[in-house]
Amino acid sequence: MVALTDLRQAPAAAGRLTLQTAAIASDSTVLRCLDWDRDRFDIEFELQNGTTYNSFLIEGEKTALIDTSHGKFKSLYLDQLEAIVDPKTIDYLIVNHTEPDHSGLIGDLLALAPQITVVASKVAIQFLQNQIHRPFGCQVVKSGDRLDLGLGHELAFISAPNLHWPDTMLTYDSGTEVLYTCDVFGLHYCDDTLYDEMPSLLEADFQLYYDCLMGPNARSVLAALKRMEPFPISQIATGHGPLLRHHLADWTGRYRTWSETQAKAEPFVAIFYAGEYGFSDRIVHRLGQGLLKTGTAVELVDLLDTDVHAVRELTMTAAGLVLGMPPQTAPDLEPILSTILAAAHPKQSIGLFETGGGQDEPIFPLRNRFQELGLKAAFEPILIKSAPTEATDQLCEEAGTDLGQWVNRDRSQKPGPALNTGLDQALGRLSTGLYIVTTKKGAVSSAMLASWVIQASVQPPGIAMAVSKDRAIESLLHGGDTFVLNVLEEGHYQRLMKHFLKRFPPGGDRFEGVATYAAANGSPILAEALAYLECTVNRRIEAGDHWVVYCTTKAGRVAKPDGLTAVHHRKASNHY
Ligand code: FEO
Repeated sequence: MVALTDLRQAPAAAGRLTLQTAAIASDSTVLRCLDWDRDRFDIEFELQNGTTYNSFLIEGEKTALIDTSHGKFKSLYLDQLEAIVDPKTIDYLIVNHTEPDHSGLIGDLLALAPQITVVASKVAIQFLQNQIHRPFGCQVVKSGDRLDLGLGHELAFISAPNLHWPDTMLTYDSGTEVLYTCDVFGLHYCDDTLYDEMPSLLEADFQLYYDCLMGPNARSVLAALKRMEPFPISQIATGHGPLLRHHLADWTGRYRTWSETQAKAEPFVAIFYAGEYGFSDRIVHRLGQGLLKTGTAVELVDLLDTDVHAVRELTMTAAGLVLGMPPQTAPDLEPILSTILAAAHPKQSIGLFETGGGQDEPIFPLRNRFQELGLKAAFEPILIKSAPTEATDQLCEEAGTDLGQWVNRDRSQKPGPALNTGLDQALGRLSTGLYIVTTKKGAVSSAMLASWVIQASVQPPGIAMAVSKDRAIESLLHGGDTFVLNVLEEGHYQRLMKHFLKRFPPGGDRFEGVATYAAANGSPILAEALAYLECTVNRRIEAGDHWVVYCTTKAGRVAKPDGLTAVHHRKASNHY
């Protein structure tokens, strides 16, 4: 192990952004972008201690950069990188994961150094092609592939799908025994200290990070840990927080213990798919997002990279199954399909999708076979014949949510009135109005009946509303999104309420048969509403099983000045 030899700190930029570089092993340098004040992350858990975005440079006979940084570090990062190496001499950019906190500067880097070959998983390359609007050279890698940089630095790639995106891989340098993991084993903790000397300072953030990002995919964590076993590891170079060197066995042991506990306790859905084909990765990503909204764990299994024993075990223990059929040109999958059919059982729900299929759809006979075995169809088979769109994304996400709600139907069943406690009854005496939230974002629209809505500020005019985490509309109510809050009228709300309480199929049109006109922000205004407000989501906070969404509003109108708002009276708090 090479000692720390070069520790520099770049001058502070606006918002307390600093940059630290250090040698971490032979020919290997870290560029740590320190974001001292970040208090919230995309996945919306609160950060107490800021975060860092770590990028790495390996200079063998060939030069490779591993991940970049957040876009807010553009000048700090690129200036520092150019001080270390001429970007035009970088041969490879290894992309372990494509979320913008790591990929935010790839476009800028490629503008400086278009000769760079981007090395990543197939799905990561697809995501980057949508992120970076310029052509770039690329090399798709998967588990077992190697890339020799010379001077002993042979890189090995380890697929780690679902940690926490389907694009994720780990990169191992056999010359230094450093494992580069991006999000995996990371924590949001900002400090000049490069390594994990004081684990007691890090434990809480390490666990929060695991719980938020990795815990929902516990089985995938265990699979990644298994794939790591053949590699002796001297340090784990994470993408967030300090690098892990002094307590390696402890950190990896925690991941193993937490994941084993989680995997035993929670129902999960196994998604079998063939990542090589069509748009499977994007479909799987969206299905997985829909499932995760309901708190359902997901296990991804690439049909072309597994064996019948693993498939049998997963099929028997999963609460739900999704099977993504590749085109008939794919290698023979009959042994795997037979195994799934033999191990599936009537307590499960099944969903199927097909991507790139021809006219002769094998998916419907397959659906029938599962139904004959007693499995419940979670959603109608999804057929994707051309490039997915926003509408297909919505369909897949809602299909995943439907399946997740079915899997959790027992856990989420509310007790009947007789079982309500005094607390439930007292809380249920809070009364609210009745509203329909309507939204349109691009080609995607959605709506929901809402009652937990209050005015939250006078200046600026603002409201707060609670949205259940497993609502389809939840994904359209992030910061900056717009919607209309339609106020229902006392005595005239039954028809609209009944309509929007219906269970819509994934991707179903919520507005069929309902008169609407477009608000300035593009969302539908219900013609029968008593009043409406045009709202913009300012921020949202996690509140147990709901998001509390704070929104500002700049426009609104009352259609019937004498009308009264419909009031919602309840007897207990555990029902809407
Ligand atoms: Fe640190 Fe998933 O990005």
